[in-house]
Amino acid sequence: MRIQLEIFLGTLFTVLTLALFMYAGFNEESRMAEWTVEQQAKSIEQGASLFSQACAGCHGPQGQGVPNLAPALNSKAFFATRLEEVGWAGSMEDYIRSTISAGRVVSTRPDLYVGGGRPAMPSWSEEYGGPFRRDEIDNLVAYVLNWEEEALRQPDVTEEPIDGVGVDITLELPEGDAARGEQLAIAQGCTGCHVAQPVGPGWMPTDTEPGVGARAEQRFQQADYTGNAVDASQYLFESTVLPNAYVVEGFLENLMPQDYGEKITAQQLADLIAYMLSLR
Ligand code: HEC
Ligand code: HEC
Repeated sequence: MRIQLEIFLGTLFTVLTLALFMYAGFNEESRMAEWTVEQQAKSIEQGASLFSQACAGCHGPQGQGVPNLAPALNSKAFFATRLEEVGWAGSMEDYIRSTISAGRVVSTRPDLYVGGGRPAMPSWSEEYGGPFRRDEIDNLVAYVLNWEEEALRQPDVTEEPIDGVGVDITLELPEGDAARGEQLAIAQGCTGCHVAQPVGPGWMPTDTEPGVGARAEQRFQQADYTGNAVDASQYLFESTVLPNAYVVEGFLENLMPQDYGEKITAQQLADLIAYMLSLR
C-alpha cells in the first residue's frame, strides 16, 4: 500500500511539474512572438528612414522606381519574376541583402537603368566599403521585404492609354500650375535625375549656376543650340519630349527617357513647365 502511494504521489508530482513547465513554455512562446513582431516593426521603421536618405533618389521615394535610372522594388514584377529572370537560386531575402550589401558594378539592364554609371549602384555594407553596419543593412532588407505582400496583390501592369501631348512644340498648352508640376516632377521621376542625382543638369540654382527656369531663357539663344524653340516655354517643352533635339553640353544623349510625349498629357506638361520656370 505504502509503496503504491509513493508511486502515485511521485507520478502526480512529475505530471504537475511537467504541466507547470509546459504552461510557462507556451507563455514564453507567445511573449517571444510578440517581441519578434515588435522588433520587426522597429526594424522596418528604421529601414524606411535609411531608404529615404540613401535609396529614394534612385529607386523613388516609395520604391516605385525612376524611369531610366533605377528599377522599381515595390512592384509585382520584382517580387514575382525577378529571381527567375536573373537565375538566382537562393531566397528573395538573400537576393535583396546581397544586392544592397555589394551594390552592382554594372547594370544588368543598362538600356533600362543606368543608375550612377559605374558602379550602377554603390555598395552599402561596411564589409564592401559602404557606409552601413550589419544591423542597418538588416533594417533596409526588412523594409524592402515589407512591400512584398502588397506588391504581389497589385494587378498586372496594363498600360492605360494616355492622351499624350506629343512632340509638336508649337502646340498651345493650357495654363500650368507650378505646385502641381512639382508633384508631377517627383511622380514622373524627373527629380530623380535632375535633383537627387546629378544624372542630368541640376534644376535648382547653385552658387555658380541659375536654376533651370532662368537657364531656359538663355539656352535657345545660344550659338550651339540645335533645336527649334523660340522661347523659354518651348525650350522646356522640347527638352522634355524631344531630349535629343539639343543635348546640354557635358551630358549624354539618350539618357533622358525619350517617350514623355506619349506619357504625359498637355495639362501635365504645362504644370511641369510652370514649375521649371519658377526655379530661377
Ligand atoms: C545611384 C543610384 C542607386 C542608388 C543610390 C541605389 N540603387 Fe539600388 N539599384 C540601382 C541600379 C541601377 C540597380 C540595378 C539595375 C539592374 O541591374 O538592372 C539597382 C538594383 C537594386 C536592387 C535589385 C533590383 C533588381 O531588380 O534586381 C535592390 C534590391 C536595390 N537596388 C536596393 C537598393 C537600396 C536598398 C538602396 C539604398 C541603400 C539602393 N538600392 C540605392 C541604382 C541605385
Ligand atoms: C534618367 C534620367 C532623366 C530623367 C528621368 C529625366 N531627365 Fe531630363 N535630362 C536628363 C539628361 C541626361 C539631360 C541632359 C541631356 C539632354 O539635354 O538631353 C536632361 C535634360 C533636361 C532638360 C534640359 C535642361 C537644361 O539645363 O537645359 C530639361 C528641361 C529636362 N531634362 C526636363 C525633364 C523633365 C521635365 C523630366 C520628367 C518629366 C525629366 N527631364 C526626366 C536626364 C533625365
